[in-house]
Amino acid sequence: MHRALYHPRQGYYSSGRCAIGKTGDYFTNVSIGPVFGQLLAAQFAEIWERLGKIDNFVIVEQGAHDGQFACDVLEFLKKHAPEFFEVLRYRIVEPFPILRDRQSLTLKPFQERIEYHDSLRPFAGVHFSNELLDAMPVRLIRGGVEKMVDVQDTNFVFVECPLLEGNAVSNQSALDWVDCVAANLQRGYVIAIDYGRVGDEREGSAQVRAGHRILDSPFEQIGHADITMHVDWSTIAERAQANGLRVAGFTDQHHFLTGILSELWRPGSPAFAWLRRGMPEPPPGDWGQSPLPGSPKMKRELQTLLHPEMLGRAFQVLALEKNVGPDASRLAGFEFAKSLMNMPGLS
Ligand SMILES: C[S@@+](CC[C@H](N)C(=O)[O-])C[C@H]1O[C@@H](n2cnc3c(N)ncnc32)[C@H](O)[C@@H]1O
Repeated sequence: MHRALYHPRQGYYSSGRCAIGKTGDYFTNVSIGPVFGQLLAAQFAEIWERLGKIDNFVIVEQGAHDGQFACDVLEFLKKHAPEFFEVLRYRIVEPFPILRDRQSLTLKPFQERIEYHDSLRPFAGVHFSNELLDAMPVRLIRGGVEKMVDVQDTNFVFVECPLLEGNAVSNQSALDWVDCVAANLQRGYVIAIDYGRVGDEREGSAQVRAGHRILDSPFEQIGHADITMHVDWSTIAERAQANGLRVAGFTDQHHFLTGILSELWRPGSPAFAWLRRGMPEPPPGDWGQSPLPGSPKMKRELQTLLHPEMLGRAFQVLALEKNVGPDASRLAGFEFAKSLMNMPGLS
C-alpha cells in the first residue's frame, strides 16, 4: 500500500495521478462542491472565537489534494468573517511537490495567507483533514498472522506469514500521525473526517478504486488506483488520549453538518451570532427547509453530503481538543451527536 500510493515516481498520490471528482476516480466531500468547505469554515470560526479570537490562529490542512477545500474555506471567511480572515494563517502540509504546485495555482488569490510545509510544526488553531487517515498504509494482521505480498510467476499474490513481533498493529502509520499532531498542537482542535469503524465493528478491508469503479484486488492498476482502508477510530481516540488530547466529539457526517447548519441559522443561537451578521438572512418562513439560503445547486450538494444513503452515514467526524479549558461546551458540529458509538473517552 505504501509503495502503490507513495513511491516517489510511480505512487498514485506522489506521481500526481490521483484524480478526484466527476472525471476522476471517485468523489470526496470536497469534490461535491463548495458547501462542504463553507460549513467547515463556519466551524473553524466558532473555534477561533472559543480560543479568544487569537491573532496567531492557524488552520492546518493535511491531504489538501489540489487546494480546493482551502479555497472554499478562505473564500467564505473573506466574505463572511473578514476579522477572522485578516488574522488567520492557512498552513498546508504537503510532502509532494507536484501537489504543492497545483495547490499554489488554486490558491493564488490567497497566497499571502498560505504557507506550505512538508511536515507538521507547532501551531495553535485547528488541524483539519478529509480522507487523510484512510490513505495511510496499513498491515493486514489477524490472529497472529500477517498477509504479505509475494510474486508468483509474474503476478503479485498474498501470502500468509506468522507474525514475529508481539506488539505489531495494523494502523501504526495512523497512530504515529496522532503522536505527531498531539506533539505539535499547542492549543485548539483536531477535526478528522473519514470512513471507518468503532470498536469491534466489522473488520476493515482495503477499498481499491479507479475510474469510479471498485476494483477486485489491490494488484490491479497499481499506481493508477486508490487504495484506502477503513479507519479504526477507537485506537485513534485511545492514542490521542494517551498523548494528552481530549475527545471533543464523535458523530457521523449527517449529524455533524446538520449541527453546524442549524446553529448557523437558529434564531438567537450565540454560537455564530457574529458570523451571521455578515450573512444574508434566510428567507422568512423557510426555516427547516432551507437552512443556508442558496441555489438549487447548493441544495443538491447539501443533500449529497447529508443524506444517510449518500455520504451522510458513510463518513464520521472525530474532534480532539487540547488546552481549550475544562468547561468547553460542545462544538456546533456535535450539537446533535447522540449516540457516542462506544468511542473511548466519550460516554
Ligand atoms: C483520498 S485523498 C483526499 C484528498 C482531499 N482531502 C479530498 O478530500 O478531496 C488523500 C490525500 O492524503 C495525502 N496524504 C497522505 N499522507 C499524507 C501526509 N503524511 N501528509 C500530507 N498528505 C498526505 C495524499 O497525498 C492524498 O492527497
